[in-house]
Amino acid sequence: ILGKAMATADTLDRDKLLFSYKGILYPVSFCSPEVFRSMESLEARSDDIILAGYPKSGTNWVGQILSDLVAIFEKKTQNKESSENDENLEEFPYLEMGDTEKYERMNKLPSRRVIFTHLLPENLPRSIFKNKAKILLLLRNPKDVATSFYHFSNGISTLPSYETWDDFFVAFMTKKMAWGCYFEYLSKWNKHAADENIMTITYEELKENPVLGVKNIAAFFGIPLTEKELQSVVERCSFQSMKKNSQKTHGAFGNILFRKGGVSDWKNLFSEDQNEKMDKAFEEHMRGTKLGAKLKY
Ligand code: A3P
Repeated sequence: ILGKAMATADTLDRDKLLFSYKGILYPVSFCSPEVFRSMESLEARSDDIILAGYPKSGTNWVGQILSDLVAIFEKKTQNKESSENDENLEEFPYLEMGDTEKYERMNKLPSRRVIFTHLLPENLPRSIFKNKAKILLLLRNPKDVATSFYHFSNGISTLPSYETWDDFFVAFMTKKMAWGCYFEYLSKWNKHAADENIMTITYEELKENPVLGVKNIAAFFGIPLTEKELQSVVERCSFQSMKKNSQKTHGAFGNILFRKGGVSDWKNLFSEDQNEKMDKAFEEHMRGTKLGAKLKY
């Protein structure tokens, strides 16, 4: 509807595809100030399963793992039959995307709810922290996040597109991205890194050892798993398997979303100078922090 706008880094603020709310940019096609204002009415629960991550950190991957784990949990605890492709969520899983009545409907959904979000902790409904909902914080190397975001932005019409990678890089480094600045995101979440209700996991560690990653995630959310169940979740959520199913699960989005699914693709885009700039920014913002150490940057 909005068409494909060609934005360069310095025109991005004026781009109609994004709007600013509390100092952060969001895409008009996914979010609105009215929905943000109604979000406070969400009543979070201690058994909610919240996935927090900056865009392009692997949200759809880990989100699928969580949905599969909940399906296993429900089958065991409620004798609920769920088929392979069961959609456990009756609401679009992204917390900040929907309509103003979404939160009233969510309040009526049975447990356990799986909720994804790209928001900063301070912009989440307060009940999430007050009611001790458990949060899985997903991190990914900023260079691969930027690479993924660049291709994604140019692939879908509802986000600004960029004539060159260099234009995108400037925007990424100058906080002109949808959902805000990567480094600010990490710095804000770093304040919660030691909270007992928060577990952090990196895209890279999950990629390296998915069996251990899924096992740890399941344990954190109190979901017992047999070895067979564990293997089936890992297999169903592999990149190859999710990509193969993507037409069915994500329609036209599929090909754009499930792009390469690997580590270090940034090496195909970054110049030496951009690499140094990113290293410097990471050093400045994340040196000595828990999340910085976790990223093994
Ligand atoms: P690339 O663009 O580097 O390929 P998000 O879901 O937060 O938008 O993140 C998208 C990124 O996660 C994309 O990265 C995508 O390929 C990757 N991804 C999606 N499913 C994956 C999976 N099952 N395993 C590994 N990476 C996956």
